[in-house]
Amino acid sequence: MEVISYREPYESIKDLPVGIFVFEEDFGHLEYAGELAKVIEKILSVEDFKGKEDTIAKVPVLDGDKVRTFYVVGLGKKDKVSFDDYRRASAIFVKRLRKDKVPTAHLYAGENLDYKRSKAITEGLLLGNYSFDKYKTSKENSFRVDKVMLYGGDKEGIRVGTVFADAQTFARDLVNEPGNVINPITLAEIAQKLAQDYGLECKIYDEKQIQEMGMHALWSVGKGSSTPPRFIHLTYKPQGEPKDRIALVGKGLTFDSGGLNIKTGDYMRTMKMDKSGACAVLGIMKALAQLKPQIEVHGIIGAAENMPSGSAYRPDDIIKTMSGKTIEVDNTDAEGRITLADALHYASNLKPSYIIDMATLTGACIVALGEYTAGLFTNDDEFGNKLFEISKETGERLWKLPMDDKKLKEKIKKSDADIVNTGGRYGGAITAAMFLEEFVGEGIKWIHLDIAGPAYLKEEFGYYSKGATGFGVRTCLEYILSLDKGT
Ligand code: BES
Ligand code: MN
Ligand code: ZN
Repeated sequence: MEVISYREPYESIKDLPVGIFVFEEDFGHLEYAGELAKVIEKILSVEDFKGKEDTIAKVPVLDGDKVRTFYVVGLGKKDKVSFDDYRRASAIFVKRLRKDKVPTAHLYAGENLDYKRSKAITEGLLLGNYSFDKYKTSKENSFRVDKVMLYGGDKEGIRVGTVFADAQTFARDLVNEPGNVINPITLAEIAQKLAQDYGLECKIYDEKQIQEMGMHALWSVGKGSSTPPRFIHLTYKPQGEPKDRIALVGKGLTFDSGGLNIKTGDYMRTMKMDKSGACAVLGIMKALAQLKPQIEVHGIIGAAENMPSGSAYRPDDIIKTMSGKTIEVDNTDAEGRITLADALHYASNLKPSYIIDMATLTGACIVALGEYTAGLFTNDDEFGNKLFEISKETGERLWKLPMDDKKLKEKIKKSDADIVNTGGRYGGAITAAMFLEEFVGEGIKWIHLDIAGPAYLKEEFGYYSKGATGFGVRTCLEYILSLDKGT
C-alpha cells in the first residue's frame, strides 16, 4: 500500500470513500464533509457511536444522486489521545476497507498533521493491511488496500513511517514462516540476501567456525538438529565517522521443541516464533540501510534449532562458552539464554556503547506481564528509562522488572559450573535476565527485552494480525534515531 499526502477540500474528491477520525464527544473533524456533516452526525447518534477509541462506524449518505461512504473512526478523548490511538484507528480503518473490498480511500485526521501523527497513521495503515496468507491456495480473503490519501499528511512522517512499518512487516513475514521453511541455514541465507540488497556488511559463521571461535554454547543447543547452527553478524556503517555504536542481539531459535526436555504438544505449538528476536533484528537492519542514521549498528544472531536426538545436548552437560565461563545444563528447554551467552559475549567484543537484546525467552514473563507487554531488564536505569519513554509513543508496551535481587541471583549460582541455566519456577523471567547479564561486557549499557508474550498473538487486535507481530522493531529503530538526533 501507498500512503500519499494531499490537501483538497471534500467537494473536489470524486466518489471515493472518506475516513474521518473523530474524538470522543468532539466530532469537529466531520466539518471536512462540508454540508454532509450534519446528516453524518445524525446517523452516528442513531448508531450510538460516541467516538470512543477502537470503534468505527460506516456511514453511507446520499450526496446528490450518489451514495458516498464515510468511515468514522474513534480516537478516544481529545485530551488523552496518544500516537498509538492514531495508529490503531488507522489500522481499524484499513481492516474495514479490506472487509468491504475498497482499494482506495481518503482519510481526514485533522487539519494540520505533524511529523509524529503522520508517521503513526502511516504505520497503522500499513500494519493493518497485513495478513499472512501466502500458503493459502484460495486468495478469497486476501484483499489488500492499494492507496490511502492522507489529508495534510507530513511527507517526512509518511516516508519514515513507511520504512518503519515495512521493517516490522518484514520481521512478521519471517516469523510466520514455519520451521520446515526457515531453519538456521535458510535464516542465514536470508540475512546474506538482505545485506546484498541493502548494502550491509554480513558475516556468516558455519558450524565448524562456530566451534573454532569457542561458541560451544550456541553449538551445544544446535547440535541435536540435522540442520546445524549458524552465527550471523550484520553491520550497518554510516558514511563518515559514526556518532555512536550499538549492538542488537536477537534470539534465533528457528524452532524450539524443548530438546531432550521435550515440550508437550500444546507448548510446542507456535514455537516457530522462537526466532522473533532475530527477525526483529533483521527488520531493523533493513530499515537502517534506508534511513541512514550516523550510528554504527551491529545485528547479531545465534541461529539454532533445539531438537532431541542422539546428538542433542543433555541435562547435566557442562559447556564452556566463548567468554570462558562454564554453564551447567539443568533443562535443555532453557536454551535461549545458552545461545545468547555466546551472542552477547561476541557483541561485547565489538565494544559498543549499548546492547539491546530481544528474546522470546521465558513463559514466566508472560505469566508476570500478560501477552501484550514485554519485560525490560537493564544494568543502566537511564538507558532503560529512555527506551521505556520511547515505547509509550511506539505503543510497544514495556515494563521494567528488577535485576537487584541478590537472593534470587543465588539460584543460578548453585552449580558445579560457574552458572546453571535455570533458577526454578519463581521469578523465572528475572533469573533468565540475570543469567544473560553474566555475559555482557564491563561498562556496556545493556537492555534485555523478554518479548515472549507480545511477539506472537493468538488473536488479531489493533494493528496486529493473528500470529507474528514484529514487536520491538519500531521501538529499537526510534531509539537509534534518537541517538542520531541527540535527543
Ligand atoms: N522459547 C521458550 C519461551 C517461550 C514460552 C516463548 C512461551 C514464547 C511462549 C523458552 O525457550 C523456554 O522454553 N523457556 C522455558 C524455561 C524453563 C525451562 C526454565 C519456559 O519458559 O518454560
Ligand atoms: Mn525452550
Ligand atoms: Zn526457546
